[in-house]
Amino acid sequence: MDTCSADLSLRLRQQAILSEFGVEALRGDDVDVLLQRAAELCAEGMGAQFCKALEYLRAEDTLLVRAGIGWAPDVIGRARVGADLASPAGFALKTGRPVISNHLAEETRFRTPQLMAEHGIRRAINVLIENRDGAFGVLEVDDTREGMFGEADIAFMQGFANLLGGAIERQRTESLLRAALARQDLLAREMSHRVKNSLAIVASLLALQARSAEAGPDGEAVRAALIDARSRVEAIAGVHDQLWRQGDGEGDAVPGEIDLAPFLQTLTANLQSGAPRHRLVCTVAPLRIAADLAIPIGLLVNELVTNAIKYAYPEASRPAGGEIRVRTALAEGRLVLDVADDGVGLPEDFDIARATRSLGMRVIANLGRQLGATLTTPRDGPGAHFHLAVPLPG
Ligand SMILES: Nc1ncnc2c1ncn2[C@@H]1O[C@H](COP(=O)(O)OP(=O)(O)OP(=O)(O)O)[C@@H](O)[C@H]1O
Ligand SMILES: [Mg+2]
Repeated sequence: MDTCSADLSLRLRQQAILSEFGVEALRGDDVDVLLQRAAELCAEGMGAQFCKALEYLRAEDTLLVRAGIGWAPDVIGRARVGADLASPAGFALKTGRPVISNHLAEETRFRTPQLMAEHGIRRAINVLIENRDGAFGVLEVDDTREGMFGEADIAFMQGFANLLGGAIERQRTESLLRAALARQDLLAREMSHRVKNSLAIVASLLALQARSAEAGPDGEAVRAALIDARSRVEAIAGVHDQLWRQGDGEGDAVPGEIDLAPFLQTLTANLQSGAPRHRLVCTVAPLRIAADLAIPIGLLVNELVTNAIKYAYPEASRPAGGEIRVRTALAEGRLVLDVADDGVGLPEDFDIARATRSLGMRVIANLGRQLGATLTTPRDGPGAHFHLAVPLPG
């Protein structure tokens, strides 16, 4: 092969290596791996024995060997090179200009750094690794053999260093972004945790008040009202508990959304523990919904199940209690909620549209309206059946 075609094939190989590294630089997410790969490929492209990626440590005004190939085992991560103008790498760093030194021993511009002397380096070429944050460091190729680095080598190495600079910047930005997202998630969870704790305090205060109300006039009625209030507060606390527990997790979870299933399951489990005569069965379709939607749904389930516990199976006629079913499903972009039992059924004259005299039904009607839901009471079984269809956003 003549010199001209040998040179051409070298440049073609360098092009291929540059584009290979370009792809790796876009994909990677570890700066050390990236720097090491850069050093290997750059040495290969230059047909050189040594290559190193030096990071500029501003506080110490020195260059640290972060990655490299050809060097003694204790060099990478430890050896340092002067960042002053008298070292070739320092010169490239401080002036931003590529530096070729084909005869280090005879140099009057530079001294030979100790590391280079120890490895018998005869010639070196240095280019700046730079990005929007400023100078990251220097990419250097060295060789112990006679030969000449030239302008075309500078072009190859500078192309390499530019890709590297961009990739380091992207990785830094991404890791900052990841850290910011993790922090935001942590803060949001912390807030939900505090809200949940505060609501738990309110609930226990209501329980305490209920206990002391028993002694007063109308004791039983006040006590029952306070117990109901406590269970409503607990239903809301449950949403914040889920927000805290579930966090935003991994993947495509949307902040402020919760998984409906564990929320309703926990809610019914809590209601079950206060109603040992009955069997609460909860069947929930997997669905993530906004906390703002989960709160009224939780309150509705709380009201309807509490009613079934109170009225479906009167102690006198049905001492063994019975089943109370909570079921959610998705149908035509709507969330369908059914609460049903096999008990005595709703009173003959019960009309959901007009049953607004008692607080429970008023709460239910208001929440339904707030959700834009339709609420019906199909008479399709022996017991009571409440059917709610909630339009889902989007
Ligand atoms: N599952 C059910 N089975 C039988 N009757 C029911 C059922 N749910 C509700 N009812 C009837 O509907 C009435 C209205 O319920 P509502 O929740 O409004 O009132 P409440 O439970 O008596 O009081 P509050 O909920 O305000 O503490 C009840 O008094 C009861 O007669
Ligand atoms: Mg009620």
